Amino acid sequence: MNYRHGYHAGNFADVVKHIALIAILLHLKKKEAAFAVVDSHAGRGLYDLTSTEAGKTGEAEAGIGRLGALAGGMPEALATYLALAREQGGIYPGSPLIAARLLRPQDRLTAIEKHPDEFALLQETLSPFRNATAEQGDGYPRTVKLLPPPSRRGLVLLDPPFESPGEFAVLAQTVRDAWRKFATGIYLVWYPIKSQAEADAFTGEVLAGGMEKVLEIEIAIPVPEGKLGRSGLLVINPPYGFEAAMRESASLIAPLLGARISALWLAGNE
Ligand SMILES: C[S@@+](CC[C@H](N)C(=O)[O-])C[C@H]1O[C@@H](n2cnc3c(N)ncnc32)[C@H](O)[C@@H]1O
Repeated sequence: MNYRHGYHAGNFADVVKHIALIAILLHLKKKEAAFAVVDSHAGRGLYDLTSTEAGKTGEAEAGIGRLGALAGGMPEALATYLALAREQGGIYPGSPLIAARLLRPQDRLTAIEKHPDEFALLQETLSPFRNATAEQGDGYPRTVKLLPPPSRRGLVLLDPPFESPGEFAVLAQTVRDAWRKFATGIYLVWYPIKSQAEADAFTGEVLAGGMEKVLEIEIAIPVPEGKLGRSGLLVINPPYGFEAAMRESASLIAPLLGARISALWLAGNE
């Protein structure tokens, strides 16, 4: 296991993924009923953007670093994202901290991380939050085991590192197994797009599970050859208003990131 999110935290892919995560959480909070969040590949939850790792790639500078001028008149998800990202100066919140910060007392977060060092830091990050649990383990089988959550409402974030060759297949199978156990849940699934054929094969594999509402969000930025400049998000059962909120956010951030951001229904629609 070599992947360290510290090199990539706050990059173009994180920006869009974290705005999407927040848009879903804000929707779930509209009802009083409790909800659960499962974060299958959580990372440490807090990233120092002034670190050597972040400086080495410059990815955060080309991502969250470009959004400094945004202020006022924004969709709530984008405004909340910027507020959380700016809260502690150069310290960037990862998905488990974003979720923990937005939960209400009745809601629950389970954040899973395999790498021992990252897990130790994750435990520390989540220690102030009584309704958030850090678990060390393999996020794929553990996520499926945790479903459906007792509250029967919630979000599953699957954000693996794609460091092993079979990762697309394991991810697709996990999404299908998870959805079979919790078909009404909202799923946010991140994947890199290195080739269109590979991405299409992956989304096809997921959709063969029979999901009826699936939105795909794609983001692409120009990068030097050999670097990842394109990624996707599969959103299964996106809440009402999610697509519009993402399109509105995209229209504000895309010009700053120099990115192309698109949304396409792969199954059903709103
Ligand atoms: C892309 S990063 C997660 C970033 C995080 N979701 C965020 O948005 O802030 C992927 C993480 O998965 C961890 N990881 C790798 N294999 C894993 C596995 N099988 N189960 C759980 N975590 C794993 C890596 O150590 C890394 O911290």
